[in-house]
Amino acid sequence: MQIFADTADLKEIRTWLDFGVIDGVTTNPSILLANGVYHVREGAVEIAKLLGDMPVSVEVISDETAAMYAQGVEIAGWAPNIVVKIPIITTQGEPCLGVISALTKGGVKVNATACLSFNQAMLAAKAGATYISLFAGRISDEGADAGQVIRNTAEWLARWNLPSQIIVGSIRETVNVQDAALAGAHIVTVPPKFLQQMVDHKYSRFTVAQFLADGHAAAERMRALELGLSVNGGGAKKTAAQRTK
Ligand code: E4P
Repeated sequence: MQIFADTADLKEIRTWLDFGVIDGVTTNPSILLANGVYHVREGAVEIAKLLGDMPVSVEVISDETAAMYAQGVEIAGWAPNIVVKIPIITTQGEPCLGVISALTKGGVKVNATACLSFNQAMLAAKAGATYISLFAGRISDEGADAGQVIRNTAEWLARWNLPSQIIVGSIRETVNVQDAALAGAHIVTVPPKFLQQMVDHKYSRFTVAQFLADGHAAAERMRALELGLSVNGGGAKKTAAQRTK
């Protein structure tokens, strides 16, 4: 399974790349805005460069399918590792499947985004999307079972040997990451603050502190032994040779 960073924060992207953890990045217009990236092309190109050949998803900003297609072609030309995010439908419920299909046939990798149901995911896969973004948090907002939607989609893609990959996004808590992973997501895209929470654990901190303290204590006793001093616990007395010195 791959992990993407759901952010446009270059410092965070660098950090998690250096840790060897992330395999790509996803953005959307809200993420770009929140990270102060107002010039979408500049921001996207900078992230794309940092990632080498790993993918970064960049979303079109239009509610009209012809304009989405034109923007998709343009965005894909900014860098070879850019994946174009196309919403599954417009604000009026018009399918964007034709845009997904046309871009895919033209060699552009598409991330079909804002998918909230198994049916939407099936259609996105049929239209040829490279990635299908299932928004776990928003699925749960609607009272549906995100884990079940992910599981069904993953099983269905595998059953029919379809190449689309599920990206689970809309992560709200660290537990959502493990739930998505165990439900069969191919990729989970995670905001960096949750990556940080995932690695931390108060009992791990305690454990590391205990071993560190005991390691230092042992080194202290070793030094005392070398100086010929007795050390706590009575186990280390001066040797006869040391006593004669
Ligand atoms: C990622 O591709 C999505 O755009 C993102 O995870 C959506 O998250 P949200 O539901 O918190 O806005």
